[in-house]
Amino acid sequence: MKLTINKKTYDIPAQWQDASLLTVLRDLLGLTGTKFGCGKGLCGACTIHLNGAAARACVLPAQAVSGARITTIEGLATPKQLHPVQQAWIEQSVPQCGYCQAGQIMTAAAFLETNQSPSAEDVANAMNGNLCRCGTYPRIRKGVLRAAELAREAV
Ligand code: FES
Repeated sequence: MKLTINKKTYDIPAQWQDASLLTVLRDLLGLTGTKFGCGKGLCGACTIHLNGAAARACVLPAQAVSGARITTIEGLATPKQLHPVQQAWIEQSVPQCGYCQAGQIMTAAAFLETNQSPSAEDVANAMNGNLCRCGTYPRIRKGVLRAAELAREAV
C-alpha cells in the first residue's frame, strides 16, 4: 500500500494496513503534529486534509485512503511562508496548551478554501466540531476571521 502525504509517497508495510491513518502518521511515519484526542472522530484533534477537505484521521482506515492526497499540519505550509491561518494564530495568540490546535488550524484552513469572506456565524459553524479543552473558542473565531483577511490581502 502507498500513501501520499504532504506531497511525498510512502510505502506502508503490510502489517500497518489495518491501522488507522492517525496511527500510521504518528507511530510509523513520526508525523506527530496530528494529535490523538478521542479516537472516535468526535473531537477534531486529529483533523487532516483528504483531497483538500478536512477529515478525521483517527477513524479513517489507512488502506481506505491509499491514492488520496493527504496533508497534515507538517505539510500545510513552510516555516518561511506560513499559511494565513498560522499567521493569524500567532497574531492572536490563539493556543493555550496547544493540544487541539493542529486540528483547529487544519479545519480552519480547509474551511477558508470554501469561503473566502466568512461571517462570524459562518466561522462559528465551521469550527463547531473541533473541541478545545482550554476554551480558546473566542480566539479561534477571531483567528479564522483574521486569517480570511490575511488571505484576501495576499491575493
Ligand atoms: Fe488546550 Fe485547545 S488549546 S485543548
